[in-house]
Amino acid sequence: TTIYLKDYTPFGYLVDSVHLTFDLADHATRVTSRIAFRPNPETTDRTFFLHGEELTLVRAVIDGIEVTPSITDKGLTVDVPDAPFIWESVVEIDPGNNTALEGLYMSNGMYCTQCEAEGFRKITYYPDRPDVMSTFTVRINGNLPVLLSNGNPSGKGDGWAEWTDPWPKPAYLFALVAGDLIAHPDRFTTMSGREVELNLWVRPGDEGKCAFGMEALKKSMKWDEDVYGREYDLDVFNIVAVDDFNMGAMENKGLNIFNSSAVLASPETSTDVNFERIEAIIAHEYFHNWTGNRITCRDWFQLCLKEGLTVFRDAQFTSDMRSAPVKRIHDAIDLRARQFPEDNGPLSHPVRPESFQEINNFYTATVYEKGAEVIGMLKRLVGDEAYSKALDLYFDRHDGQACTIEDWIKVFEDTTDRDLSQFKRWYSQSGTPRVSVTEDWTDGTLTLTLSQRSEPTPGQSRKLPHVIPVAVGLLGPNGDEVHATQVLELTEAEQSFQFTGLAAKPVASILRDFSAPVILEHDPSNTERAFLLAHDTDPFNRWQAGRSLAQDTLLRMIRQDATPDADYLDGILAVLRDGDLDPAYRALMLGLPTHSELAAELFDAGDTPDPMAIWTAVETLRQATAQHLQDLLPRLHSETLIDTPFSPNAEQAGKRSLGGAALSLTSRLDGGSKAAEEYAAADNMTLQLTALSCLLRTGKGQDELSAFYDQWQHDRLVMDKWFGLQVSMAAPAATVDTARALTEHTDFNWKNPNRFRAVMGALAMNHAGFHRADGAGYALLADWLIRLDPVNPQTTARMCSAFQIWKRYDADRQDLIRAQLNRILETPNLSRDTTEMVSRILGA
Ligand code: ARG
Ligand code: ZN
Repeated sequence: TTIYLKDYTPFGYLVDSVHLTFDLADHATRVTSRIAFRPNPETTDRTFFLHGEELTLVRAVIDGIEVTPSITDKGLTVDVPDAPFIWESVVEIDPGNNTALEGLYMSNGMYCTQCEAEGFRKITYYPDRPDVMSTFTVRINGNLPVLLSNGNPSGKGDGWAEWTDPWPKPAYLFALVAGDLIAHPDRFTTMSGREVELNLWVRPGDEGKCAFGMEALKKSMKWDEDVYGREYDLDVFNIVAVDDFNMGAMENKGLNIFNSSAVLASPETSTDVNFERIEAIIAHEYFHNWTGNRITCRDWFQLCLKEGLTVFRDAQFTSDMRSAPVKRIHDAIDLRARQFPEDNGPLSHPVRPESFQEINNFYTATVYEKGAEVIGMLKRLVGDEAYSKALDLYFDRHDGQACTIEDWIKVFEDTTDRDLSQFKRWYSQSGTPRVSVTEDWTDGTLTLTLSQRSEPTPGQSRKLPHVIPVAVGLLGPNGDEVHATQVLELTEAEQSFQFTGLAAKPVASILRDFSAPVILEHDPSNTERAFLLAHDTDPFNRWQAGRSLAQDTLLRMIRQDATPDADYLDGILAVLRDGDLDPAYRALMLGLPTHSELAAELFDAGDTPDPMAIWTAVETLRQATAQHLQDLLPRLHSETLIDTPFSPNAEQAGKRSLGGAALSLTSRLDGGSKAAEEYAAADNMTLQLTALSCLLRTGKGQDELSAFYDQWQHDRLVMDKWFGLQVSMAAPAATVDTARALTEHTDFNWKNPNRFRAVMGALAMNHAGFHRADGAGYALLADWLIRLDPVNPQTTARMCSAFQIWKRYDADRQDLIRAQLNRILETPNLSRDTTEMVSRILGA
């Protein structure tokens, strides 16, 4: 069944309070609820339906009298008084057999929960919808040392604990954790002087991986006070690390639950990329306390209201903590790699979807990352000051409410007097807009003509023009800026903008700072690109110029067997030589478009991408770059040596990133001897893993690989890296066999989402390997998706998206993929999650 946004109606009852008692037992946990309902004056619909799935009802009572509800596999209905009443129920559940990791489940002997979006209905009967908000009191009975739930502790004894959450919340923010856990404690004093006790709870053995996450939490709390004026609102804030978790983390009120990979960190076991991601996720979940929890969503179609805004806020935080240009470039790379394929393929959906079968399938790059880009555009259009005012009004007006995108837009309209009805199309129109640019130069006037169009997407054949902020600057012939960044507002299908009084023909730098999530169709000559690469004052576009040069030469190498372009090689050499530039930024300059991006470019231009030709071109360009930079590599190495103790800060991470990029080029010239030395000397995971990748890519490193295994066998998170790296570094012909062999390894614990993704995710990401012409890559992934589906539908459905790009390839590959998708779809009892994903990918 499909659920539609347009069908929203409020629930017939309000909930005044919820009391829950848990009697924990692995296979027979009892949940007793006592819920105060009263008729909702906002509606006349008096249907009393409570969600409930996989529950065994033991007893149901209304106002003290036992009742017999009618029960289906979705929930129950029962006659209730037309006045306030108390509902009580006792249900039994089986957390020990809950492998879907939704509701109450067990991970290595500890109890934990995941309720967003619709998991609370697997815990007890309840109106499990985000617009039903209530305070909760939770009593946990269980013989485990640590018993946690939301809110503040309100009682504790031998084998029990009670928690009271004074802030009304929807059920998806409920959480419970019970286990043998150790606290990494700290404190924070809020801006108004409230003392907050902080704890990061981990399993014994992980105590040494808590310090970084705790620092990140305190920085986040301070930043939200300083930048948004938002203060924490409980006496305690708990974070728990869990090994089995479908997503990154969850913002349950006062009790955030994290995938251990998204919170545990130490220099020996975590890379710089891990540290930065952990800092951002801790911030993200913490920021949800206001954008998500205090102000939540009316229904799940409004998911971007909390996720887009919270991703935007965590990006601002990372920009402030680290380097703003580097963060912006990372985000653009990520958007193009993950969101553009979604937006322009069979899974395309608006930032605010209008229908779904399974909401878990809509926790997507479009809702999250494009949702954040939409907020970035809004801020750019109204300006920083108006943005702050609008946000103050949002928090003021909507605190304690379950809101919609209309409420969000309205605070901007009310603070700016702007009509945002056209801008709102960003929430309803799917697909990535394409903006093309033509230039005319006459008598000291530059005219830029911008036009926009969007291709049809599933369910949307006709598109209307968007409001697109296009940040533009002009550079004079000497490389000096003759027109500072200005935001052009493109609102029509086509529009011209003039820049007058120019002494000489300038070079235009367009879409500075990636001011809109669009595909820019602007074809400056390679000379102009090289000029921008050398001179652009906008760091994003300077990087973009190098990226376009790289893409252009790669496409010509793929199509016409051309040789690597000198403008690219010389331009990159000059940038890499510039010791004044941030090492992190220089490392980014050495990046290349991914194989998958190149495939998309070729497909867009009407060509059929050949994965092996793409692989060959990228390898050839890498080799040519290594040779061209040969004399510089030793200098890059010495420039990036670090003589102070390890810190995961941006400065050191940038140096390691540039050093690593240089090492990777070096190993193309020396057969890996430098990498072997670095591996032997490595005292942090970033260097150890970089050196090992270099060796594996050179076809070496087998000894190091087994030494790595012996060294880290005991560490789950490091072993995930060991599994993933072998698949991502495998040569095209060896990828599938490597992945298959790893699935037979004794440590391939496929029911753990991190381990499953380490191998299967890396397989899908190894473009030439996955797209092996005989279809063995497709078959291996499909085999495992079929096996995982009955165990864990959410993770299965999510990984099906590896097939979303199938229409790009040749007819043989399309047939092979279609056959696998049909095979999955025909599996008996396939989950709703996977059925929806595969049907959408097939376009059925
Ligand atoms: N709200 C969480 C976050 O973004 C993600 C929860 C995802 N849950 C799910 N069932 N897909 O931080
Ligand atoms: Zn979130």
